Amino acid sequence: MHTSPLKKIILTFLVLGASLPLLVSFSGNGSSASPEELCRKLVLTNIEKIIDELEDAQKLSGLSAKKKQKKLIKLYNKSRKHYKEIEFFIEYYSTFDAKYYINGPLVPKSEIEFGPTVFEPMGFQVLEENLFSKAPDFKIIDKQYEILSDKFAKLRDYYSTITIDRSNLTEALRLQVIRVMCLTLNGYDCTVNKETTKECVYVLNSLNIVLSYYNLETNSTPFAEMNSLIKRSIELLNKNPDSDKFDRLNFTANYLQPLYLSVCNCVEELNAGRSQVNYAVNFKQRSIFDINSLDKQHFSLYRDDTLHQKEQSELGRLLFFDPVLSGNNKRACASCHKPELAFTDGYDKSFGFEEKTKITRNAPTLLNAAYQKSYFHDGRIFNLEEQAARVFNNAFEMNCSGDEIVKKLKQSPEYVTLFRNAFKGRMDSAITFYGVMKSLAEYIKTLDSKNSKFDKYIKGDHTQLTRNEINGYNLFAGKALCGSCHFYPLFNGLVPPMYNDNEFEVIGTPEDSINKKLDQDAGRENITHSSIHRFAFKTPGIRNIALTAPYMHNGAYRTLDQVLDFYNKGGGAGLKLKVENQTLPFDSLGLKKSELNDIKSFLLTLTDTSATKKVPSKLPRFNNELLNKRKIGGEY
Ligand code: HEC
Ligand code: HEC
Repeated sequence: MHTSPLKKIILTFLVLGASLPLLVSFSGNGSSASPEELCRKLVLTNIEKIIDELEDAQKLSGLSAKKKQKKLIKLYNKSRKHYKEIEFFIEYYSTFDAKYYINGPLVPKSEIEFGPTVFEPMGFQVLEENLFSKAPDFKIIDKQYEILSDKFAKLRDYYSTITIDRSNLTEALRLQVIRVMCLTLNGYDCTVNKETTKECVYVLNSLNIVLSYYNLETNSTPFAEMNSLIKRSIELLNKNPDSDKFDRLNFTANYLQPLYLSVCNCVEELNAGRSQVNYAVNFKQRSIFDINSLDKQHFSLYRDDTLHQKEQSELGRLLFFDPVLSGNNKRACASCHKPELAFTDGYDKSFGFEEKTKITRNAPTLLNAAYQKSYFHDGRIFNLEEQAARVFNNAFEMNCSGDEIVKKLKQSPEYVTLFRNAFKGRMDSAITFYGVMKSLAEYIKTLDSKNSKFDKYIKGDHTQLTRNEINGYNLFAGKALCGSCHFYPLFNGLVPPMYNDNEFEVIGTPEDSINKKLDQDAGRENITHSSIHRFAFKTPGIRNIALTAPYMHNGAYRTLDQVLDFYNKGGGAGLKLKVENQTLPFDSLGLKKSELNDIKSFLLTLTDTSATKKVPSKLPRFNNELLNKRKIGGEY
């Protein structure tokens, strides 16, 4: 029943009223419309259609529940198509509306900026959940139709008047390829009807259409290449209607990656320039698989302060391994963040300063930690620089104030020189607490880990992964739903494609691996005071997971098998623990032992410890022999 891809493209053109030559010659007052205006027209036409479909859905009456459901599903599928064709635009120009009213995931949301306000799930995904269930709740469905109709009518008015700039629009197109790769194909939507591959076809089709508006200006090779890549991608997608069985790793590596490059090449042809928006995605890179695909500076408190970063990171490395930074000159950052354990400490919870009692949480890895918008398991800090300050003053961790540290460091002529070199050309090149924090942050920013076996595979070396590992990734991104929270490329909760928000989730982590009691750490609720955040924790990155046991904020699990068993049973709620607001689906995933093993083998391909090898061989000297005997990396 699948229409051929070419026919589909032609059909889409017709449906969208976008038969190109026609549109160009008839638009405006005889003058040809710009690609941006053609795009506006496409968006407005689709919105009109969605509004019509939503209105039609509200008019159905006198039908049996079953018949009504069937009709509604048909209308739903139509409006999803029209939505997906212009998703790139709505997500870009109306990010908030897209997340909260149109296509947000099925969990209540609340933002620290809005105080305790809770946004219940709204929009297409609520409709989908109901329409595709055995017993749809028509009251909920009607309400969602109202919300969506209202939203789309507002968007129509808004988009009729906004200025559409070429730089913005081409950025939106690039971001859309990343969205497909990292969200759509990872279970962000279509969670119930599993129409993932079909919806990807709609997205790629319209990408092709919008870029062909531009091709009218250039008629160049990059556009022809892009067009043929999209055709091939659509062919493959059409052959794979069952999204659970779709080999998304192959598609990502061999279709989407070249497509991203191709879209970048097209955009370059257009001299579109760059918008003023500060993105986490580094648009200078033509691969999102490259180590520099995310711009580290984007996440930094001192974004524009790039003078002498190298000197600062080298100084930061010494400080990180130097126990002189602690109250008793015995403990260093590296005590709890050990390079050989991917900068964790191997304990369920770290030991406090006197090493008699444990502190409340597990030490997270610092590899790739620079790419985050929230730090600590509860996200109480927004950047690395402030984070270091908190650790010092913490009586349990380093137990040393900023003033004391500065006073101590000033007694080492070597440190004085190192600081002077790292901060020369500034108002204050002496040792300051700012300098200590900045240097530590610059060091942590060098701890990249993105060249694992998995990365090498995705970049084209197909000898790197076994069939089981590939299957493991496909399960991770598909049936097992892991990829809907642990997002590519960091596999943490930093949400693509804007990467400007870390997610917190309630998965119901138990106290320990006996799985009988829910852990009582309230987590994110302590910070936001919103009850939906009770027991919510930041979704951590899971690269280098082979080295970072025990797992979870409290180290509840010692092995990956235990973690996988927990997820397979549906998290805390699935284990019958009393968890309100669990955002992890609590039905059993129904994964077989062999499937769980495949996911585990995939997880074990995410190891890249190249950044852990640069441990200092000596520390700066003091005029104090006792201090000079201090241990590199501290005691613990
Ligand atoms: C006693 C062990 C211990 C010491 C010493 C220690 N840390 Fe940590 N670190 C932790 C724990 C535990 C957490 C998580 C705490 C939480 O979430 O409440 C953490 C969190 C962090 C994070 C946040 C990571 C993330 O992804 O959220 C950074 C960055 C960090 N530490 C850096 C440092 C630096 C720099 C030092 C030295 C100045 C240091 N740590 C010293 C145990 C330690
Ligand atoms: C609803 C979002 C969500 C889904 C779905 C999800 N995770 Fe997680 N994951 C989290 C959160 C949140 C944590 C941290 C929990 C804590 O600290 O108590 C976590 C923690 C982990 C950890 C431990 C990391 C560490 O360093 O301690 C692993 C491993 C992991 N997840 C793997 C997976 C796998 C495999 C799947 C799919 C079977 C999966 N996750 C599905 C949100 C999710």
